[in-house]
Amino acid sequence: MRVLSGIQPTADSFHLGNYLGALRQWVLLQETHETYYMVVDLHAITVEQDPKVLRQRTRVSAAQLLALGVDPDRSALFVQSHVPEHAQLSWVLECQTGFGEASRMTQFKDKAARQGTEHASVGLFTYPILQAADILVYQANEVPVGEDQRQHLELSRNLAQRFNRRYGKTFTVPEPHIVKDTAKIYDLQDPAAKMSKSASSPNGLIELLEDPKRSAKKIRSAVTDTGREIAFDPEGKAGVSNLLTIHSALSGQSIPELEAAYEGKGYGDLKKDVAEVLVEFVTPFQDRVRSYLDDIAELDKVLARGAERARAVAAETLSLVYDRIGFLPVV
Ligand code: TYM
Repeated sequence: MRVLSGIQPTADSFHLGNYLGALRQWVLLQETHETYYMVVDLHAITVEQDPKVLRQRTRVSAAQLLALGVDPDRSALFVQSHVPEHAQLSWVLECQTGFGEASRMTQFKDKAARQGTEHASVGLFTYPILQAADILVYQANEVPVGEDQRQHLELSRNLAQRFNRRYGKTFTVPEPHIVKDTAKIYDLQDPAAKMSKSASSPNGLIELLEDPKRSAKKIRSAVTDTGREIAFDPEGKAGVSNLLTIHSALSGQSIPELEAAYEGKGYGDLKKDVAEVLVEFVTPFQDRVRSYLDDIAELDKVLARGAERARAVAAETLSLVYDRIGFLPVV
């Protein structure tokens, strides 16, 4: 069974939502699946990027994945642009996608609205189709992502099914692998919104590579509510519930265990402990990232090896697709 997933190199650091929603699952799935993980630089350029910064962030992203436990001996860890078949399959799939269908993608609508639709790139519009190509080119069975990717996954499934109907069984239809408890981590300052790098306040976002003291401070100033009771109630106590989710995911204690442990205690106690488990997690993580970045030559070699493995699989799918749609073989 194959697994594929990707993450954008569009920030100086991954954030806690990326880790708890998706990357933790990437690491776990290595135990049971054939895994393909990539840094999606092609997706990154759908909005303007400074070339030097993009190159740096791509390496820092790869280093973070290694530091989180992606094992390059088990997983093919690579950079999307190193495998040209993604872009090649994307074109074919664009020709199977309705304009209206692509127009309904809510992430496109949100991002385009933020930039003004006139200025949004055509790449931003076709973004989810490239994502479908990423997944289908590996014949992936499962795709570990956070809740915000569900609609893109649905498009990938639809495209796979449509192509299979039209041209005969070609693609595996992928399933999203979304772990409910941590599928959506919320902004610490606005617990109705998802934690995101485009958050309105930087205090709502925990970056894995920021100074751990700063993270601890953000946790301590997280928005809660005027009540006193520490209970998991996402509707009524969104902020407290988010903190419980983060604590539980990092400490391994279940939510009911935590609720029992905090009986009679206050929000300040909970925040102090969440800050502590977070600092304990990020401090050694940051050391590992630094050590991967100390040897760029080795890091680049790991990525080259990953791309080679990935390409072997991707090329096979692409040649089947080209044949199915009636392209003449190269003789
Ligand atoms: P990206 O780079 O925005 O985010 C990477 C992963 O983090 C998850 N995530 C969250 N999970 C829980 N709570 C949050 N607040 C939160 N914020 C982000 C995302 O769901 C994602 O899994 N389009 C993708 C990248 C991509 C991809 C792919 C993913 C490109 N090709 C193929 C899977 C398969 C994206 O922008 O993720």
